[in-house]
Amino acid sequence: MKLTQDQKNFVEDLLSRMTLEEKIGQMNQESPSIVGGFDVPFSELIEMLTDGRISQEEFGRIMANAKQDFHEDDIRAGRVGSQMVKDPRQNNALQKIAVEESRLGIPLIIGFDVIHGFRSVFPIAIGEACSFDDALFEETAHMAAAESRAHGINWNFAPMIDAARDSRWGRVSEGPGEDPLLGSRFARAKIRGLQNDQSSPLSYVAACTKHYVAYGACESGRDYNTTSMSVSNLYNVYLPAFRAAMNEGAATVMAAFNDLNGVPCTVNRWLLRDVLKKDFGLEGFVVSDANAIRECVIHGIAEDDRDAGVQAALAGMDMDMGTHIYKDHLAAEVEKGTVPMAVIDEAVRRILSVKVWLGLFENPYVPEALIEAYEKGLPEEHIALCRKAAEESMVLLKNEGGLLPLSRGQKISLVGKLADDANEVCGAWAMAWKPEDCVSIRMGLEAAGADVRYFPCGGPEGEIDFEEADRACREGDVIVAVVGETDAMSGEASSKAEISLPGGQRALLERLLASGKPVVTVLMNGRPLALGWEAEHLPAILEAWHLGIRMGDAVAAALLGDVNPSGKLSSSFPAVTGQCPVYYNHPSTGRPGSKSKFTSRYLDSPWDALYPFGHGLSYTGFAYDGLCVEETADALEICVKLKNTGDREGTEVAQLYLQDVAASLVRPVKELKNYSRVTLAAGEEREIRFTLPKQDMGFYDNEGQYRLEDGLFRIYVGGSSRDCLMKEVRIAF
Ligand code: BGC
Repeated sequence: MKLTQDQKNFVEDLLSRMTLEEKIGQMNQESPSIVGGFDVPFSELIEMLTDGRISQEEFGRIMANAKQDFHEDDIRAGRVGSQMVKDPRQNNALQKIAVEESRLGIPLIIGFDVIHGFRSVFPIAIGEACSFDDALFEETAHMAAAESRAHGINWNFAPMIDAARDSRWGRVSEGPGEDPLLGSRFARAKIRGLQNDQSSPLSYVAACTKHYVAYGACESGRDYNTTSMSVSNLYNVYLPAFRAAMNEGAATVMAAFNDLNGVPCTVNRWLLRDVLKKDFGLEGFVVSDANAIRECVIHGIAEDDRDAGVQAALAGMDMDMGTHIYKDHLAAEVEKGTVPMAVIDEAVRRILSVKVWLGLFENPYVPEALIEAYEKGLPEEHIALCRKAAEESMVLLKNEGGLLPLSRGQKISLVGKLADDANEVCGAWAMAWKPEDCVSIRMGLEAAGADVRYFPCGGPEGEIDFEEADRACREGDVIVAVVGETDAMSGEASSKAEISLPGGQRALLERLLASGKPVVTVLMNGRPLALGWEAEHLPAILEAWHLGIRMGDAVAAALLGDVNPSGKLSSSFPAVTGQCPVYYNHPSTGRPGSKSKFTSRYLDSPWDALYPFGHGLSYTGFAYDGLCVEETADALEICVKLKNTGDREGTEVAQLYLQDVAASLVRPVKELKNYSRVTLAAGEEREIRFTLPKQDMGFYDNEGQYRLEDGLFRIYVGGSSRDCLMKEVRIAF
């Protein structure tokens, strides 16, 4: 995000003409409030629905009588800087009030959770990251930006780039997985896709990288829980994606709910002012997460709302999401001198700068013709990209005896409620999909011409119909069982203490296996699951995540071999839940897990991942050979021969890892340093080259200083974090 001198002058001029109330108004974000139809606050109503005090039908009746309050009067009075609305005509109406009826005519910045696509829903991020395809990350973000803008949304609360290693945390679904390098490349590509195409006023949005920071390290995987870690761990694992996003020019950042080493991120001056704004150079602004300023009172860090608001403003929190604390308290605090006017001016300057950069002063509205065009349906190229992204995001975990792909001649019994639920394909944080765009796995198989019969049998919730399962076994040559999680089982506030297959699904699989018919398992889920039993007993497992609106087409294409799976895991899968957190780039211990007793292991379970980061099979095979490492003045030049050993074309993700053998701080057993997607024809061999800049071979210490330390390094190249060729090299920097 760069402003011209004229734009900067425009911001300064505007700022000089604003009253204190108008300035604080810019720091206030509203979302529509539900009013009427019931006498309790809306949040209480949602709780009543969740805990069963009212039924879905009653809730529906109440909502039908309720109205939304968009805070028009406050917008008119200049007391609102931002709104969260997805309807384009409503957005136009609100912008009209802001632009034409408020004293200074400052447009609203309109934010929304467009996490993995708007109406064109792409795979959930943990899935899309499995493609290791930076160009795809960028393309899907670019399309999401265009669709958002066509609906009056100019600020996407994405990308979510929290490194996450504990799959009990429901929000692992929203981000790019466990690795800081993959997370950083994902972050950069997403920022480019959202922000960089400024060819038209409606082709870009402001990104909002979140949640800053270490939210993914919440203790025991329980959402909103405390986090505690060393400075070096913070800098090496959790900050890199944010640093990368800032280097790419991300316009805004959302602070995380959690405390970090005792200070909630919302009021963490060091994190916001020193690291993010000063060191990383954020040019835009920081917004709190929903209600997070008020939650500082409950955290026990502020006595009351006023205190929380003062602490947040002083810490560098520029915009308050949803509490009105800034609106209600900041003016008095400025008058008292507790909050200097310079703090307010800085926040408002940042917010106005993003609005100017977005072109909102010239183009605040969505043209009616564009709204109507989207009402007619999704353009073909949007549907095609949804399908491509879905195809690249699947990971073939296991394929014993080449059971997959299936042939069109085989009679398929398709089993599992998830297999025909088009409402489940989009996953968590998809807020604008339309049922008519969604393709279930059953629909996909039928459209692809498979000989398929469908038996719901049961799903993640409710009873299993075992008789129906027996019928499915009798009638098919092969069973395709679709099992996993509903979309509500991952995402925010969806942590789980047990992450094996939920409900009776394992019993269903046992019953299917007992028939002796081959059972192909398709997983549809929002987090790595604990699959120890499944990996041992099932011959073929395809990890398909929640792949978005074209899920059914993509899964059918993979099952039938029209598409050759190429995804690699962006997160390690445990065998049992008790292994969490399990991740490949673990710090070396003095007693690495092994068969002997006094090592870092469990008595009752494996110590390492069942399916590690980077794992993923193909319908063809790949062999690596001839690893060579050459040192130049400022880099290592690494080459390896990669051969497609099978009889069909396939795409492999070649991965480069580094281990610093001895350093002043314990380093990970391996760290991803680069990757490359390579498509090879049957039998083709190609030399793959990586350049590893020496500058990238260091690490951050506990003062947050980057260190390059001479010594021995191991270079690994291979098709997963576990399966690599290795060469040692001694480096003096
Ligand atoms: C979530 C954010 C989201 C915000 C606005 C919060 O509850 O943590 O990720 O952007 O709500 O909807």
